[in-house]
Amino acid sequence: MTDRYCVFGNPIGHSKSPAIHTRFAQQTGEEIVYEARLAPIDGFAAAVRDFIALGGRGANVTVPFKEEAFRLCDRHTPRALQAGAVNTLIFAGDGITGDNTDGAGLVQDLNTNLGTVIAGRRVLLLGAGGAARGALGPLLAEKPALLVVANRTAAKAEALAEHFAADGPVDGCGFTALAGRHFDLVINATSASLGGEVLPLPAGCYAPGALAYDMMYGKGDTAFLAAARAAGVTRLADGLGMLVEQAAEAFFVWRGVRPVTQPVLEALRQP
Ligand code: ATR
Repeated sequence: MTDRYCVFGNPIGHSKSPAIHTRFAQQTGEEIVYEARLAPIDGFAAAVRDFIALGGRGANVTVPFKEEAFRLCDRHTPRALQAGAVNTLIFAGDGITGDNTDGAGLVQDLNTNLGTVIAGRRVLLLGAGGAARGALGPLLAEKPALLVVANRTAAKAEALAEHFAADGPVDGCGFTALAGRHFDLVINATSASLGGEVLPLPAGCYAPGALAYDMMYGKGDTAFLAAARAAGVTRLADGLGMLVEQAAEAFFVWRGVRPVTQPVLEALRQP
């Protein structure tokens, strides 16, 4: 029987994950089917149980269920524990294992697809929600010179920085405290782009040659990338590469085979 996988979310209709994993399967010769499954807002656990009963072997989890998925798991990988959220589920006879491949996907996209060295660089991470938390451990593992977490609610950024203090040089603050500081890599992990809102970043926070990276993606520039472009930043990247790389990492976790991501990313970028 063909192994079944899926992505759970709400909404889920526009998910690119089925197309990505189907391409990975074709490329690697793995016999799997991968579908998008809409879970009711108050029915995530039941949706997971139903899928396991149908023979599901694993699943991805997207908005808004990553924290609930964490609580549902019987055990967690170290990186899922660090993130406090789960985007990859592995179903086995003895229970559900939760993993998180988001941070690894971000770092892989930065390193490999964008040729950006994080080691020794000044990194600014915007946001202090789940997306930021998932990125922090893997970013600090790359040994940046310093990592500043800035958030609309400064206290949340400060708490997050404190939580990760043992993992590297990390500080938390509000946006106004960024005045006069310069960064080589600025990563947007807020959901402000969703509503087309622009973050109040001080002029000059981008060092010459800096990369502006939005974990979000959409048609054309996100609000964050449009603002960075208007500020004179020429190196810009959206989160499509991260999406493909976190998927490749999940595929590897499930199948033990690492797909080549470049052609899949190129296909997704076709209009
Ligand atoms: P996610 O799981 O996507 O990270 P989240 O946990 O709800 O979602 O976190 C959303 C993040 O985006 C938070 O850092 C939030 O800032 P607050 O902590 O101050 O709420 C940030 N955010 C959302 N909308 C924003 C906006 N319009 N301007 C600035 N920050 C925003």
